[in-house]
Amino acid sequence: MGHEIGASKIVLAYSGGLDTTVAIKWLSEKFGAEVYTVTVDVGQEDDFSRIEERAYKAGARQHFYIDARREFAERYIAKAIVMNGMYEGLYPLGTALARPLIVEKVVEVARRVGADAVAHGSTSKGNDQVRFDITAKALAPDLKIIAPARIWGMTRAEEVEYAKRHGLPVGEEHKKYSIDDNLWSRSIEGGPLDDPAAEPPEDAFKWTVPPDKAPAEPAYLTIEFERGLPVAVNGEKMELVSLISFLNHVGGANAVGRIDHIENRLVGFKSREVYEAPAAVILYHAHRDLEKLVLTPRELRFKHYVLDPQWADLVYQGLWVEPLRTALEKAAEEMEKWVTGEVKVKLYKGALWVVGRESPYGGYSHELADYSRGWYPTDEEARGFIEIWSLHSLTALRRRK
Ligand code: ARG
Repeated sequence: MGHEIGASKIVLAYSGGLDTTVAIKWLSEKFGAEVYTVTVDVGQEDDFSRIEERAYKAGARQHFYIDARREFAERYIAKAIVMNGMYEGLYPLGTALARPLIVEKVVEVARRVGADAVAHGSTSKGNDQVRFDITAKALAPDLKIIAPARIWGMTRAEEVEYAKRHGLPVGEEHKKYSIDDNLWSRSIEGGPLDDPAAEPPEDAFKWTVPPDKAPAEPAYLTIEFERGLPVAVNGEKMELVSLISFLNHVGGANAVGRIDHIENRLVGFKSREVYEAPAAVILYHAHRDLEKLVLTPRELRFKHYVLDPQWADLVYQGLWVEPLRTALEKAAEEMEKWVTGEVKVKLYKGALWVVGRESPYGGYSHELADYSRGWYPTDEEARGFIEIWSLHSLTALRRRK
């Protein structure tokens, strides 16, 4: 099944890990094809020259390194910030967001070298295969898609065996976790994390310290937003990549950004996922808070209850290319025009509070809100308002008695 697909030039999305290293060899043997490898830099903490070396050792015809950090921030993460992108309320979508961009780059290389197929290392149990395949079908319907790990039926141990037999560079036989990281989040899966009842071991974390190792004094961050996007921290203008790196650093040092999530996977089962995403968590809270100050209650409800969760579902579910995604963003854009201002966030031993906010477009009126002076409805106005406001509910209650 699927084996009969022929291909002579294949472009493989290459992470440098065991699966994709084995895939280089496996693809060239299976199809007698030339395999080109592409590593897309979306901010993962990897040694890219070592990855290139591994690609060639495993038999790549040509390796491409593409630095896409800035594009990732500006075309993907920026949207997640504006759309408060959190799948099921907790997962900031780092892995999900990077996939369509990686595919875009792989397809670009496929065009450049005149390939007839693209390939990726995802298995048939994960979400990433769906994201990869759908985006590739949308961008390049003529290219074949090959996912060796869905075909070869090797266990991890058999892959290691295969690698050794073919003299491939391995070295991660004893890896405890499966990790995918980029600028926006670090996803940690597998090993001891597969027991959802057990607390994640400390060695699962890398970006964040545990709360008891955080500084004795709180850290304050004043984040400035322009039209829904962060542009400065503590008075210092920064472009998005550096701003996110900075927040990851400060957040992580204050134990902020650890996420333990029971997640509904796209492929039919629940999984326990652990993430580190200090910048994403800080920006989510700060941005949403500023929206609360600025948007009308109707805009706010529509955005937070409808637009934002719909957007996160599409991105998680591999449907980055779905037309509804851009329609949701367009609707949000209309409101984000006013999401300009400053939010003050306090970080302390793993906790995060928004402790202040201001905006030239803020809907807050001291005159209206102050209890000690200013506007008060009359007793008659208040009674009339309450009478009409409660009419639907009270009518229904009477009928149902
Ligand atoms: N559960 C997350 C997602 O579906 C993270 C997946 C991590 N992917 C990986 N290949 N390790 O987006």
